[in-house]
This record gives sequence, C-alpha cells and structure tokens, in this order.
Amino acid sequence: MASWVSSIHVAWVGAIMLLLLMSAMQTHAQLTPTFYEKSCPAALKTIRKAVRTAIAKERRMAASLIRLHFHDCFVQGCDASVLLDDAPSINSEKNAFQNFRSLRGFEVVDSIKAAVEKVCSGVVSCADILAVASRDASEYVNGPTWTVKLGRRDSTTASKDLAEADLPIAFNDLDAQISSFANQGLSVRDMVALSGAHTIGQAQCATFRGRVYNDTNIDAGFARMRRRGCPVSDGNGNLAPLDLVTPNSFDNNYFKNLIKKKGLLHSDQVLFNGGSTDDIVTSYSTNKAAFYSDFASAMLKMGDIKTLTGSSGQIRKICSIVN
Ligand code: HEM
Ligand SMILES: *[C@@H]1O[C@H](CO)[C@@H](O)[C@H](O)[C@H]1NC(C)=O
Repeated sequence: MASWVSSIHVAWVGAIMLLLLMSAMQTHAQLTPTFYEKSCPAALKTIRKAVRTAIAKERRMAASLIRLHFHDCFVQGCDASVLLDDAPSINSEKNAFQNFRSLRGFEVVDSIKAAVEKVCSGVVSCADILAVASRDASEYVNGPTWTVKLGRRDSTTASKDLAEADLPIAFNDLDAQISSFANQGLSVRDMVALSGAHTIGQAQCATFRGRVYNDTNIDAGFARMRRRGCPVSDGNGNLAPLDLVTPNSFDNNYFKNLIKKKGLLHSDQVLFNGGSTDDIVTSYSTNKAAFYSDFASAMLKMGDIKTLTGSSGQIRKICSIVN
C-alpha cells in the first residue's frame, strides 16, 4: 500500500518537474538583459566604448546606427540579416531600394564586432550588437536610454524582396505607414514615437524632392531653402538634416517642426496633417518626457520582432558573412 502511494507520488513529482523544465526552456528562449552576464561580462561596455568612439569621430553615426537596427528588425525580424553581403545564397538587403547608397555604418558595426570578438570570441550576436549600439547611440546624443534585452541570434539568410516590401518609404501616406508598422506588431503610437528618430541624421535630395517641389502642406520659406540644395533634376545625393533645428542632438524638435509644416520627408509631415496622429505629435512637441518614454518602449518592442533564440540561427563571426 505504502509503496503504491509513493509510486503515484513519484509520478506526480516527475510530471511537475517536467512542467518546470519545459517552462524553464521557454524562459530560456526569451530575451533577457543578463544574457551575457556569465558568457561575456565585458560585452556591453566593449560595445559602448566602440560606439562612443565612432560617434565622437562622426556625430551622424548615431543616426546611422539607430537606422540600421530599425532596418534590421523590419525585415525577417532582428536577426542582423541587414548586415549580410551578397553571396551565392544571399540576396543582400543592402541592395533594396530603401537601403542602396543610403544605409550606412557597416564599417562601424564591423569594428564593434571585432572589439567584442577580442574579449569573447563567438559569443555575442551581430543582432544584439545592433540593438545595444542603438541604445548607446541614443544615449550619447542626449536621447532616451533603456535596458536592452539580449540573446538574439543571427540569421543565415537575408531577403532583398522582403526588405523592399516591408521597409517604409518616404512617399508613404499615413495609412500606408500605419499598416507597415502594424505588420510588425507596432501600434500607431509606436509608429509616431519611432518616427521621432528623425530628430537626428540626414536625408538625400532624392527622398524629399517631391515634397519640397510639390507638396502643399509645407512652410513656403522652408521649401524654398530645401529646393536650393535639391535641384529638380540633379543632386540626388545632396544631404539635408531631417531636423532643421538640432540635427545633431536627440530632442523633440522633430515634432515641433511638423507643427510648423517643416517636416523634411512627405512621410514625416503626414503625421501632422489633419489626421488621426495629430494629437500624438502635439503632445510630444510639448512633452519631451512623454516622447522619450514612448520612444524607449517602442524601441524595446521593435527589438523583440521575430528574434531567433535558443539554437536557431548562429552567432556570426563576421557580421557581413554567414559562418
Ligand atoms: C515611419 C516610416 C519611415 C520612413 C518612411 C523613413 C524614411 C527615411 C528616409 C527616406 C531617410 C533618408 C535616407 C537617405 O536619404 O539616405 C531616413 C533616415 C533616417 N531614418 Fe527613417 N524612416 C522611417 C522611420 C524611421 C524609424 C522608425 C527610425 C528609427 C527608429 C528611423 C531612423 C532614421 C534615421 C536615424 C535616419 C538618418 C540616418 C542617417 O543620417 O544616416 N526612421 N528615413
Ligand atoms: C511634381 O508633380 C508633377 C505632376 O505630378 C510631376 O510631373 C513632377 O515630376 C513632380 N516633381 C517632383 C520634383 O517630384
């Protein structure tokens, strides 16, 4: 009798332990800020140092690094697919029209990765490096900071076609922009907050020519000024700051510009054009803290998009090449 009871007992304990083990395995597959605490304790400070060196050398690099993480996460998830070069089995996302001759910072990512490989070889993913570098870049140029979740792994594939389909474009109207973010599980509020990254960095004439020559919801003096640097049929690569007031500093001026009809891209101004997002723009323009807090949450949400964890994917040795 006693042994009968105890064998039922053993079966129950076994079942409960199995459940606990399964939930532990599930937890293992989630991103966590402490992911490299034991395997590479110097990872975060190594990335931070390399990011700060690069931005000290060229202030715009802060913007370029943040954009890289965004363009990574929107295509196949945050898996560093954006960093892969063309190869027999890779159709590089770098050649997608939204990225070609536009996305930058690849050499900086390579140098961060090299520094990290030196302290712990084969441990820290390129996808995590992009996520941490974005946070460090934001912090360095006076933007918000947040605790990055880690444990992403790198893809063995990339998709130029998906990049062209999933990355938003400067000629988007509000509906297209809302649905491109909704496709990634991001809300309208996330979309507006994340667009606030255009408080830093530069855009090329080809991306804003239509706006400064043809849009009507634009400040006349601003349009005139931007047309001077962007001829009708020349100068495609000429640069202009996305935030005309403080292009090198992260702040909420981007939203103040929109209220004055001084958004540089058509896709910027649609956020404040008599539509459903006007109220959010107005609130961010007067409440920098609300923008910072929403930007940080939205970056965390974006950093969670379709990540590879556990034993999926790989830890690339060189970010531009599959192992
Ligand atoms: C809402 C839809 C978006 C559209 C249509 C868009 C489009 C663009 C375009 C056309 C440029 C200029 C590229 C060039 O001329 O080479 C640009 C630059 C930039 N974008 Fe976006 N973007 C969007 C959202 C975002 C988001 C969500 C982020 C980051 C969270 C972001 C970060 C940046 C940054 C920082 C730059 C400047 C990059 C540099 O100076 O190197 N953008 N974007
Ligand atoms: C402005 O609009 C006209 C008419 O649609 C078009 O022909 C022209 O190419 C546009 N200009 C620019 C600079 O986009």
